[in-house]
This record gives sequence, structure tokens and C-alpha cells, in this order.
Amino acid sequence: METSFETQQASAGLCPVLIEDEHSVTRIVEAAMANTADPRLRFVMGSLVRHLHGFLREARLTDAEFEFALEFLARLGHATHASHNEVVLAADVLGLSTLVTVMNNSTRDGRTPGALLGPFYRANAPRYACGDCVVQDDAPGLPLLVSGTVRATDGSPLAGALVEIWQASPVGLYDNQDPNQPDRNLRGCFQTDESGNYHFRTVRPAGYPVPTDGPVGTLLAAQQRHPYRPAHIHFIVAAPEYRTLVTQVFADEPDKLESDVTFGVHRQLVGTLRLHDHGRSDWGDVPAPFYTLQFDFTLEPGQQTFPKPPID
Ligand code: BEZ
Ligand code: FE
Repeated sequence: METSFETQQASAGLCPVLIEDEHSVTRIVEAAMANTADPRLRFVMGSLVRHLHGFLREARLTDAEFEFALEFLARLGHATHASHNEVVLAADVLGLSTLVTVMNNSTRDGRTPGALLGPFYRANAPRYACGDCVVQDDAPGLPLLVSGTVRATDGSPLAGALVEIWQASPVGLYDNQDPNQPDRNLRGCFQTDESGNYHFRTVRPAGYPVPTDGPVGTLLAAQQRHPYRPAHIHFIVAAPEYRTLVTQVFADEPDKLESDVTFGVHRQLVGTLRLHDHGRSDWGDVPAPFYTLQFDFTLEPGQQTFPKPPID
């Protein structure tokens, strides 16, 4: 019986070096990377190559489709610049960013789930005292009074914890996207009091579309997907010796929550926005109509770190 060159090499204990068939390509590439000194890089690249090759074999990509895919990746790079990252957006709409977030943010011991930092986080948010209002303009929108407690996983309240928030306006635009909003409108840093409590005043945010003028927009259109994220407020909650929590709290609008274009809505991150249609608020002396949102956060012991702002 005739034995293939690859079989002869394998029986001689050698890695294949010449292509025999589509499976030998994968083994040859893995062998070429086998001397990678960093063991983590060796493992990650080996896994990546095996899965990408497996994908190509499963999808039976044609030459034209492969060329189109490479062109698409190049277009993601060309559409990326200092104030916009189309590569990250592609990872977001394919669920990659959310999968990494879910994998790396356990909810063990009652820890609050994490959510995407997103592309609109900016450094130097104004520092406010608890109870202050983060709205710097007089744009219309119903007031929203947000309050809660920051605790550790053992239940103890965390005094002096940082609670940083940012959100889109009632028309669905962040300050940096909207020439009508003052710089760093709807952004703010607060500190919890001695009982771990925080509270602040804002306006009810609206959902908004992710940018659709690049290749990701073309992909969403081809997939007949809308580009919207449901209304949410971003939070960073941090305290020394606790793992920093980067998360989002979503408005309870069921039809919108179920089709977030970035797949970012964790069941435990849906807040209840209660409409008050008469009287005045318990704090802040806000006349009805207004909303309240009560949301607590639980941090686990670990390292306090701060994310790098993706834009200025
Ligand atoms: C955001 O929540 O700000 C966001 C996240 C991913 C893509 C676009 C926006
Ligand atoms: Fe957002």
C-alpha cells in the first residue's frame, strides 16, 4: 500500500513540512510556531490558528470570499482613528467584547456583573458631592434621581468608594458627540458616604445607535440588524483593595433590552426606573414628574485599577 509523505514523516516521528492536504496545513503552521518562547503566546496562537483553520474548512470559503474578508478587516483599520475605533466596534457587534467581559467578571459571591466600558468613556469627569446634579444644560428631559449602596462581597458597606458615571442625553448623544452640550455634561465622579451610600441627580438617558457610517454599519445592514443600544448609565465603582467594577445599568424597557446591538445587557444589570407623577422627591426637592432608580453594587476583594479612556 502506498503511504503518503506526511504519513512517512509522522511514522519517523517528524512533523510534516510539506503540504499533503488541507489538514496538513494546520499541523505545519502549528509546528512552525512551536518554538514560541512565551508559553501563553504559544498556547493562544496555537488555539487561534486551529480555530481559524477549522472555521475556513467548515465555511469552505472561496477565494473571492477570502479576499472580501481581508478587505473588510483592512477597512476596519482604515476607519479607525484617534476619536473612533471601528475594530472595537466590530468586536462589540459580534459579541466578542461581551463574551470577554462575561468570562472575566464572575458574579460569584453576589458580585455585580461587569459590562463594556464602551468608546465614550472620557477622563477628567467633574467631581461632585453626593446629591449634586450632573446635568450642565437646560435641555428637556425628565429628571432621574439615582441612589444606592456600594458593598463588599462580605456585605460590609464601602465608605469613600468612587462612583463615576457617564451617559447619553435624552436625545441619545454623549457630550463629545453633540456640539449643543457643555463639555463633560452628564458625567461625574462621586464618593460614597460613611454608610457606603451614593446619590445623584441626572436626566433619563435615551438609547442610541452605534456609528453606522463605516464597514460595521454595512455589515449590520446586510444582517438586517438595527444599530441601537438600549438606554443605560455607565458606572465605574472603585475602592482600594477591591477589584474595580466597570458596568452599565439599563432602563427597564423590555422590547429594547432584548436586541442590544452589542449584546451587553446582563439580566442583573436591569434597573427599575420608577415614574413619580405627583409630589416632590425625598431629596433634591424635585417636583413630579420625575424618575427614581435605586441600584446597589457589590465589589470583590482584588486590585483597584482604572481603565484607559479610549477617547480624549
Ligand atoms: C457604549 O455603551 O457606550 C457603547 C458600547 C459599545 C459600542 C458602542 C457604544
Ligand atoms: Fe453607552
